[in-house]
Formats: sequence, structure tokens, C-alpha cells
Amino acid sequence: MNILILGGDGFIGSHVVDKVVGLGHTVTVFDRFSYRVSKHLEHLRGKLNFVSGEFANRDVLKHVLENQDIVYHFICTTNPASSWNDPFIEVEQNLKDSIQFFELASECGVRKIIFPSSGGTIYGPQSGRIAEDTLPQPFSPYGITKLATEHFLNYFREHANIASDIYRIGNAYGPRQPVNNPQGVIALWMKHILEGSEIQVYGDRQTLRDYIYVEDIAQLMTHSLHDTDSSETYNLGTGIGVSILDLLNVFIDTIDQPFQYKVHPRRSFDNTSVILDSSRLMAFFSGFKFQSLKEKIIDTWCYVKENYTPPQKP
Ligand SMILES: NC(=O)c1ccc[n+]([C@@H]2O[C@H](COP(=O)([O-])OP(=O)(O)OC[C@H]3O[C@@H](n4cnc5c(N)ncnc54)[C@H](O)[C@@H]3O)[C@@H](O)[C@H]2O)c1
Repeated sequence: MNILILGGDGFIGSHVVDKVVGLGHTVTVFDRFSYRVSKHLEHLRGKLNFVSGEFANRDVLKHVLENQDIVYHFICTTNPASSWNDPFIEVEQNLKDSIQFFELASECGVRKIIFPSSGGTIYGPQSGRIAEDTLPQPFSPYGITKLATEHFLNYFREHANIASDIYRIGNAYGPRQPVNNPQGVIALWMKHILEGSEIQVYGDRQTLRDYIYVEDIAQLMTHSLHDTDSSETYNLGTGIGVSILDLLNVFIDTIDQPFQYKVHPRRSFDNTSVILDSSRLMAFFSGFKFQSLKEKIIDTWCYVKENYTPPQKP
């Protein structure tokens, strides 16, 4: 099949590109490559098509959508912290541009869209394991917009017969995660350790998160490529809640460099507890074992150390 991966040079997208190329599909990656150089996919040069462009550019997007069967949509310009004080940015950029993309995709005959939603924000305040049929109650502009985007996919399914799979992802971590993004606490803490600055820990034993390794996400997100007609919503997490203080202890046990830390109360844009019940998706993967947090934090730390570029001095 012809598969287009929007934002495929980013953290999660690039791991999905690795998997989808490995499955033998014809892959095109669309991203705003700076100077046409890929951040993460140089090892695949010659094995896929690269298209550099802006997501908001209707003509460029329409051109790249021609003859595509399935499109992954990993483009997003915000995170829960960045739009907390600027809700309009969610609507003006993420929601508006996504709707334009859905419209163009239906005009171009795309059969399925695969969308990474946010298991960490769309359910709102909950406790225990959350299943997909829990009533979503997002309170951040980021989560509200993710849920609205899911609903627009329902509209395009009914209105234009375009199928969609939605994956509500937990807290992704692993190689290639941007170290400056507050969405990725593991990468952010690693950056602070390398720079010799104090780690800021927000929350307590009740601040539970479902940390999932990015290669597990990529593998599980390829599950429905063979089926371009059905639409489904899946949680995508390990089902294990790890408190922020337990995560800190994993760092203390595994990181081979001394570091300082400071514990603060939970921030207003953070949920207390996010633990995802992914049994709907896991029913397709009998015997699947999630990667161990401790082992993969060590691998991620090795990657971050090797690839970290210190900020330029003025
Ligand atoms: N990282 C997580 O923990 C997590 C969890 C749940 C959902 N998600 C969602 O998964 C998706 C991907 O997240 P990520 O962490 O891989 O992000 P990322 O920032 O690493 O990747 C996004 C990619 O999109 C590209 N991009 C951004 N704006 C663009 C534009 N206007 N035009 C062209 N390209 C543009 C960027 O260059 C980047 O390569 C997002 O929708 C995010 O909300 C992420």
C-alpha cells in the first residue's frame, strides 16, 4: 500500500516509519524538514520519499495526498503546557489544519486516517484503569482539541466514507524524543542531568502515569494496516501506573551520573492519575510483552547522552 506519514520525522512518527517501511509498504514522509535534512530518518534515505512542507499549505498537502491509501497524522504544534495559557493556538493551528487535511484526504480518495490522540489528557480526572468507553472529560485546551479532532474524524467517516483508527496514547518515551518538550518528562530530566541543572519533579505518590516505550507504540499502531474499511478507537498504554516519585527512584537507580532534584506539588494542567486499559487493542496481540521501564530508561539515557548537543553560547 501507499502510506503517507505526516510528521514522520518526529519522535513517534519516525519510529512508525521504521516499522511501516519494514513491512514493505511504499512510504512517503511529510514534515517541515529544516534545510531538507531529516532529524531521524537518514538511515532510510533511498527507501522512502521525503516531502518537505507546511501542514497548513493546502496545495502542497493536496499534492502529497494523491494516490495515498492510508495516512498517519502525527503533526501537532503544541503540548499540554504550551497551550494552557493560549487556547486559541489549538483551534487555529491543530484543529483547523487537521480539518482541512481531513477534507483534502477525502477529496483525494484516502481510505483510512490513523490519528494519535492523547490518553493522558482526554479522559480528565479519573482514578484506576480507564477503558475507551469512559466518558472523556478533558480540561486542558490540548486534550479538548484532541477529543474534538476525534469527533471530526467521526464526521468525515459518516460524511465522506473515510475510515479512521484513533490511538489514545499514554506517556511515550524513548530515543528521538525532543529533550526540550515538557510533554516528555523522561527526556527532559535527562537533558537537565546532562546540563548539570536540578530536576523538577511535579506531583506525589498519587501522580500516576502510564509510561510506554516508543517502539511498542510504533508496533501496536501498525495493527490495522491490512484493514482499510473499519474504524476503531484504542487506548495505547501498558496498564501499569508508575508514580512520579517511583520514576524518580528508577532514575536514581539507573542513571550513572549524579543529579539534584526538587519535588513540587502537581501543576494545574496535569491530571492526577492516568492508567490506560488497552485490552481492546491487546486482544489482537496475544503474548505481546511491553518493554521494561527500567531497561528502556537505560537505553534512552545512552541515546540521549550520545545525541545531546549543548546549547550554543551567545
Ligand atoms: N509524545 C507523547 O507522549 C504523545 C502522547 C500522546 C499523543 N501524542 C501525539 O502524537 C503526535 C506526535 O507526537 P511527537 O511527540 O512524536 O511529536 P514531535 O514534535 O516529535 O513530532 C511532530 C512532527 O511534526 C512536524 N511538524 C510540526 N508542525 C508542522 C507543520 N506545521 N508542518 C509540517 N510538519 C510539522 C515536526 O517537525 C515533527 O517532526 C502528536 O499529535 C502528539 O500530540 C504524543
